[in-house]
Amino acid sequence: MSILGLTCTRCDAQYSMEPMFFGCPACVDEAGAGAAALTVAYDYRAIASGLNVEDWRRAGHGIWRFDALLPLRDPAAQISLGEGNTALVRPRAVCETTGLSNLYVKNETTNPTWAFKDRFHASSVSMARSLGYARVTASTTGNHGASAAAYSTAAGLESCIILCHPESSMLQRDMIALYGGHAFVLEDRFQYLDTLIRDYGYYPSTTMTPMPTGTPFGVEGYKTIAFEIFVQLGGRIPDRMFCPIAAGDALYGPWKGFSEMRALNLADRNPVMHGVQPAGCNPYVQSFRQGLGDVIVHPGPSSIALSIRDDTGGPAALQAIYDSGGDATDVTEEEIIEAVRLLARSGYLVEPSSAASVAGAIKAARAGRLASDETVVCLVTGSGAKWPEVMSELVDHEAPVEPSWEEIRARAGLDDAPQ
Ligand SMILES: Cc1ncc(COP(=O)(O)O)c(C=O)c1O
Ligand SMILES: [Zn+2]
Repeated sequence: MSILGLTCTRCDAQYSMEPMFFGCPACVDEAGAGAAALTVAYDYRAIASGLNVEDWRRAGHGIWRFDALLPLRDPAAQISLGEGNTALVRPRAVCETTGLSNLYVKNETTNPTWAFKDRFHASSVSMARSLGYARVTASTTGNHGASAAAYSTAAGLESCIILCHPESSMLQRDMIALYGGHAFVLEDRFQYLDTLIRDYGYYPSTTMTPMPTGTPFGVEGYKTIAFEIFVQLGGRIPDRMFCPIAAGDALYGPWKGFSEMRALNLADRNPVMHGVQPAGCNPYVQSFRQGLGDVIVHPGPSSIALSIRDDTGGPAALQAIYDSGGDATDVTEEEIIEAVRLLARSGYLVEPSSAASVAGAIKAARAGRLASDETVVCLVTGSGAKWPEVMSELVDHEAPVEPSWEEIRARAGLDDAPQ
């Protein structure tokens, strides 16, 4: 059997492969403090002996071409909406600004619900189904819940309850409803989540930390980002990766994937991992600067980047940053907006949270911290199309006037006369 069980990311305690939704019992105290995520442990020697990397090159059926390194062992329970297999592209305007010809974005906006979260729920909800759960719940600022609802309906589950942040976008709440889920907007979502899991038999398709509840099976789906990048770079590992982080799984997941490729002798190093946060909400950055093992709480977080505006995160991503020799870095609102604009000028419409990774890379390039020949990958996590109000704020809407050729030429900056 290639799965050994679950391991605590903090104390290495080992558990059997069972539904454990409250973190490591040895680390969490009664008040829920010290939450430590469990992670799936594999027997890499057993996996290596049966692995054919050629299979990884065959795109199709979502994340499941990497099934040897995913927790689900029952192929009949696999759910896919065609997630993954996203493009690794060089955004023209960003490459020009940074002078880096090998700066790529891993464009996760083309996933079925337009966010990288689809990899999470493909793995997590498939596990829910194979474990016999018929009900799924999640807490969300938007992307996570919309994706959870889509995969719950794809799995034919009986009920999906999504607990939404008060500022979550209306469109995402509507998506949840259209997918057949129930969206409830609540200030204090955690106590409801806890009761739904303990008393109503719901499976929590949420991150394991910083909340002391969640599934260890979702983040496994994010490892496939690393596997795809490896294939797309022709069997190479990038020098650096920039990830926008909140709970931290957006960095921990790919990092675990790269680490597994080392364990399988497919790679001899990990990329240097950079976690990027808004300056108005930077608990990882503060914790990294102080060399802490846990992520502090940042009171009163503020940023346009709602999807990564969490006041704290989990320790596993912080440890991954230390282990990779990387850092946690913050970017201003102006830098985030500049990155949204440069990505749009490159042809990619992304939400501010996604653009934070690119803003982090631009900042590092301008500070002279990136060599011009380095291969840099920025994880671009979600589409701007799901945040119409936010996108609209970035546009100087011109006053409507009766169109005339003089007016059109003036506004478009055309100085040539008609031919
Ligand atoms: C668009 C986007 N980017 C990044 C993140 C951060 O992911 P994580 O909380 O796993 O670090 C999120 C999480 O909701 C997100 O929606
Ligand atoms: Zn532990």
